Amino acid sequence: MTSNLQIRSEKPEDQSAIDALLSAAFGPGALARAAFRVREQAPHDSDLAFTGFCGDRLVASVRLTPISIGTTPGLLLGPLVVDPAHTKSGYGRALVSHALNAARAQGHRLVILVGDAPYYGPLGFAAIPGGSVTMPGPVDPARLLAAELVPGAAAGLAGQIQGVRKSD
Ligand SMILES: CC(C)(COP(=O)(O)OP(=O)(O)OC[C@H]1O[C@@H](n2cnc3c(N)ncnc32)[C@H](O)[C@@H]1OP(=O)(O)O)[C@@H](O)C(=O)NCCC(=O)NCCS
Repeated sequence: MTSNLQIRSEKPEDQSAIDALLSAAFGPGALARAAFRVREQAPHDSDLAFTGFCGDRLVASVRLTPISIGTTPGLLLGPLVVDPAHTKSGYGRALVSHALNAARAQGHRLVILVGDAPYYGPLGFAAIPGGSVTMPGPVDPARLLAAELVPGAAAGLAGQIQGVRKSD
């Protein structure tokens, strides 16, 4: 029941609870993942980081990181994590939708992620055609997905994905 979920903007004091969820979900191998390498290049956008609370318990987190895809600006979504005790209640989908709406409202045009198409497809993501987009690490092209916040924003997408510091 998503009605139990309160979505908030992430605050500095949420960090340790988010870290605990992330290390439980992704474990020590996380830093080897291509998406984590991008996030090492630039911090996530603190205006586009959201938490899900059930009462006073932080049970979900999602963050967006500014990136460039070749010369095209965009955002990388992730990590998305939901406390295993609270999965299958729609919290993951609710947090992704909230993040996409916030990104659109802030004028962003395109969101990329590495993830499972069956999960993210209904949320507006589709595989990037052509396999012309690369990451700073190996990635299965079928898991490299894009959501257009503005129609046509993913057309002709090509080049390396790199983290971009927000003030750059
Ligand atoms: C993947 C994750 C975010 C899903 O969160 P959630 O709150 O359970 O998701 P929702 O409740 O919105 O959606 C649940 C539905 O998605 C399905 N689903 C979950 N993960 C899926 C996946 N990888 N591929 C396809 N479907 C998936 C569930 O089976 C469920 O289906 P149902 O509605 O038919 O029962 C959560 O399980 C999690 O944090 N996993 C570990 C971290 C991770 O893999 N993050 C995503 C990559 S960054």
